Amino acid sequence: MTVLVVDFGAQYAQLIARRVREARVFSEIVQSTISAAEVRAKKPAAIILSGGPKSVYEVPAPSLDPAIYELGVPILGICYGAQLMAQQLGGEVAHTGGGEYGRTELARRGPSALMQEWPETLSCWMSHGDAIARAPEGFDVTASTPLAPVAVMENAARRLYAVQFHPEVAHSERGQDLLENFLHHVAEIAPTWTNTSIIDDQVAAIRARVGSERVLCALSGGVDSAVAAALVTKAIGTQLTCVFVDTGLMRHNEGEQIEATFTRQFGVRLIHVKAQDRFFDALAGVTDPERKRKIIGELFIREFEAVARELTEGEEGPRFLVQGTLYPDVIESGSGHAANIKSHHTVGGLPEALSFELIEPLRSLFKDEVRHVGEELGLPAEIVWRQPFPGPGLGVRIIGEVTRERAEILRNADHVVVDEIKKAGLYRELWQSFAVLPAVRTVGVMGDGRTYAYPIVIRAVTSDDAMTADWARLPYDVIESIANRLIREVPGVNRVALDVTSKPPGTIEWE
Ligand code: XMP
Repeated sequence: MTVLVVDFGAQYAQLIARRVREARVFSEIVQSTISAAEVRAKKPAAIILSGGPKSVYEVPAPSLDPAIYELGVPILGICYGAQLMAQQLGGEVAHTGGGEYGRTELARRGPSALMQEWPETLSCWMSHGDAIARAPEGFDVTASTPLAPVAVMENAARRLYAVQFHPEVAHSERGQDLLENFLHHVAEIAPTWTNTSIIDDQVAAIRARVGSERVLCALSGGVDSAVAAALVTKAIGTQLTCVFVDTGLMRHNEGEQIEATFTRQFGVRLIHVKAQDRFFDALAGVTDPERKRKIIGELFIREFEAVARELTEGEEGPRFLVQGTLYPDVIESGSGHAANIKSHHTVGGLPEALSFELIEPLRSLFKDEVRHVGEELGLPAEIVWRQPFPGPGLGVRIIGEVTRERAEILRNADHVVVDEIKKAGLYRELWQSFAVLPAVRTVGVMGDGRTYAYPIVIRAVTSDDAMTADWARLPYDVIESIANRLIREVPGVNRVALDVTSKPPGTIEWE
């Protein structure tokens, strides 16, 4: 039972797809150019048309194959999708001049399948310039706002529904309830899609595909590769071999954690490549950020290849390679969003020359779902809830030359930052929080002596998807305890600064 979310741009579609899944219904994002025949082939149980940044009157504005309305599949249009439905079915969309943005009072009128047992008025989240002025024939108008006379319209006979506001955003009171009414009651989809069902489906699919062959997986220390590996382990157990390349640029305890989990808890064969020396040698004297990234990326691939080659030398070598690709990497959103994320994957992108067949068990999942699956599979919270970490590791946070000593300073400093953030209960709500080591030294005084050492910059950001980010307003007392501990506990550090740059104009990482 799949719900298709038709993407009309921006990032609305992803949020809707996630909300549908929170309603325990599987959802898939499709392009707005999809034809009625293609929709029919996918046999969706319902369709949701997303919002988008355009006006239906703009040329060209994304449209929808009108034959899709005739398929008999229940459809819910949201914002742009609502206006498009109104316009395509013979209603009228008007340039109202003024728009509604943000919290807006919604007044209900008459019975409604979408808003069962709602109060007469409540607040919803609007973001529109145009508005539906007249509903198409056969539709009942069941709610309005001051500037949107047709804020909700419903055609129960054809099971076509449209809402001008955004039920997918948390600011819309009862927004999730509206989506669930549409999914569970109007479209009659049972809420059966759960983490357990994802795991069971994937385990069965992997077993069927792999048979008795062997499988290889590169663990990075990150959440995605760990969950992918755990899932494959559940499916095929010891047929899996994991490779962890320690670049010397990993976070505190990362290697030990991986080893403890995969070797001791899951009993997987883990090849722990201790490549630190080779990475530091290759990085000696290099200060240019792009060159550093390149060196780390290429060396990582070479290290992995060496192991893979050794394993594949015998007849019985692995035929499959596991990758932790996630749904946002897969969606062609048309907004360039997915392409952008991919360009970041400079490390962990594995050699095509090795001609493995790929197993990507997380391809249909969002990050938060991956975390829940990971928990369900028994991975420790420390791995599952780890904040994102760039492929080149601490290398992009050590400004200037990367040396063993400087990596050690930063790793210790990073551990202090993360530890204090965790103690303050902020770790999960921050997108990322870490330490950066600049390439300058400053003078200080400690005890009776003069010091000449590095500053540490605290970088903490909030974000939904890393495309944009805001610097986190950390409480002063948390900043204070981080600063005190950094100076006290990390040799080589004598000053602490706070990065208050958003993205844009800054990036989250410093290099
Ligand atoms: P920036 O610094 O561009 O980072 O704002 C956005 C997000 O991407 C992560 N990042 C990377 N992830 N390989 C990765 O897998 C990389 O080379 C890489 N560079 C940055 C960064 O941590 C942030 O979450």
